[in-house]
Amino acid sequence: MASEFNKLFDDWSKTYDDTVAGTDPEYRAVFAHYEDILQSVADRADGLILEFGVGTGNLTERILSQGKELIGYEPSVEMRKIAKQKLPGLHLFEGDFLEFPKPDRVPDTVVSTYAFHHLTDEDKKTAITRFHELLSPGGKIVFADTVFANKEAKEKMIQDSLDNNYDRLAQDLQTEYYTTIPVLTEIFGELGFESAFTRKNDFVWLIEAVKKS
Ligand SMILES: C[S@@+](CC[C@H](N)C(=O)[O-])C[C@H]1O[C@@H](n2cnc3c(N)ncnc32)[C@H](O)[C@@H]1O
Repeated sequence: MASEFNKLFDDWSKTYDDTVAGTDPEYRAVFAHYEDILQSVADRADGLILEFGVGTGNLTERILSQGKELIGYEPSVEMRKIAKQKLPGLHLFEGDFLEFPKPDRVPDTVVSTYAFHHLTDEDKKTAITRFHELLSPGGKIVFADTVFANKEAKEKMIQDSLDNNYDRLAQDLQTEYYTTIPVLTEIFGELGFESAFTRKNDFVWLIEAVKKS
């Protein structure tokens, strides 16, 4: 599952929590206000919650600490090991946005942080279509991820990264599937969601999409 990125995240798993704490200068701005970003997603989730790209379980931990009910999906075996060590009681499955064991009840919220950009825009559509089918009436998607206001903003960020000699970050921005707010707004609208975007740092936006019917 999600084999394209599994090796990257298996390798990154042991140092991932250091990176989000700001130890890697290239990624410091990406993870600025990380705790606040997770909190804003957790606060908006309710009912039965599905989380995709659990990683080391940081968002998961916040949601569970609020006494909410969550099922997690994560494609990287090494990430799953760390999440399970932190949260032994977690209902965690091997899975990704496109291929995952279906819950036996109707979910109310789909959450994810720093993960949706691993899908091409075409695959994002497929995932959102599936979530529309699965979610309860009025159910919602709450994501936080790197998105750009438009193509020019993305190009500028790549150029700024190169100017700062942040070559890993520049390559990441050029090769993963970071999209723009107009593209996501159109996809959500076409697929039956009302969406809203709130900026959280220079890279990350909070994305809320409510199922219209
Ligand atoms: C940058 S980490 C984010 C982890 C955590 N959500 C957080 O906010 O710290 C991205 C995670 O998404 C997972 N991932 C990669 N491709 C995915 C996909 N197609 N579907 C679901 N998760 C994916 C990775 O294995 C990794 O654990």
